[in-house]
Amino acid sequence: MTALLEVAGLARAFGAVRAVGGVDFAVEDGEVFGVIGPNGSGKTTMFNCILGQLRPDAGRVRFGGAEITGARPLALARLGIGRTFQSLQVFGSLSARDNLIAAAQEYVGTLAGRLLAAPDAGLTGRAEALLARLNLAHVADKPAGSLSYGQQKLLDIGMAFMSGARLVFLDEPAAGVNPRIVGEMAAMLRALKAESGATFVVIEHNMDFVMGLCDRVMVMAEGKRIALGTPAEVRADPQVLEAYLGG
Ligand SMILES: Nc1ncnc2c1ncn2[C@@H]1O[C@H](COP(=O)(O)OP(=O)(O)OP(=O)(O)O)[C@@H](O)[C@H]1O
Ligand SMILES: [Mg+2]
Repeated sequence: MTALLEVAGLARAFGAVRAVGGVDFAVEDGEVFGVIGPNGSGKTTMFNCILGQLRPDAGRVRFGGAEITGARPLALARLGIGRTFQSLQVFGSLSARDNLIAAAQEYVGTLAGRLLAAPDAGLTGRAEALLARLNLAHVADKPAGSLSYGQQKLLDIGMAFMSGARLVFLDEPAAGVNPRIVGEMAAMLRALKAESGATFVVIEHNMDFVMGLCDRVMVMAEGKRIALGTPAEVRADPQVLEAYLGG
């Protein structure tokens, strides 16, 4: 069976820093795939090389068997690949609902045109369903900037789902979020996965969150993959302990 996402030999340097030094992995359809590793181990750079924000120096990326190496974010979004960034991407002055609708229209026309266009019923319905799923229905009309940080992170996740993505990359969804919302977030991601059938690739430092959510976890250190397996396998791996304790 072909994996949904296949990454082979992916590499990217910044001057003398080998941020990603030749990484291989494959993500199966329907899986929640975690990526962990100490700060600076190349996790975000790897996402950016897969997702068209950065050009890899070497390596190949395939999605559903088709080559997508070096494809631009717009093309990837149209193929059904969504993402969140490590920093929030919400528009603070737009309502939570309008952030979702604008995210779906992100690749159509100008910003002004998107804000002035009447959203179609399908988009509004999708936004309402996501607001309910993310427990944001009661703040749907509030400016996103007035929501708590955790609520804004949830909204950011919702935005990655508005275009009906099949594969969603999340970069530290739980970072800086209060523990109560982190617990709810894991349950919400499971529900979103069940409803959408989407496959997830999730970078996180919160170990309880990662280990509870993911089917398999890849561990990076200094730009390399040092372990890949089930949460139990990865936890028991001496190289993983060393990377965290020694780093
Ligand atoms: N645009 C850039 N220019 C120069 N160096 C960069 C750039 N982006 C990342 N780096 C360097 O590449 C290495 C990997 O960084 P990256 O952000 O990918 O790590 P990370 O695993 O996502 O870390 P964190 O857990 O802190 O988010 C680091 O040494 C970082 O300083
Ligand atoms: Mg990062």
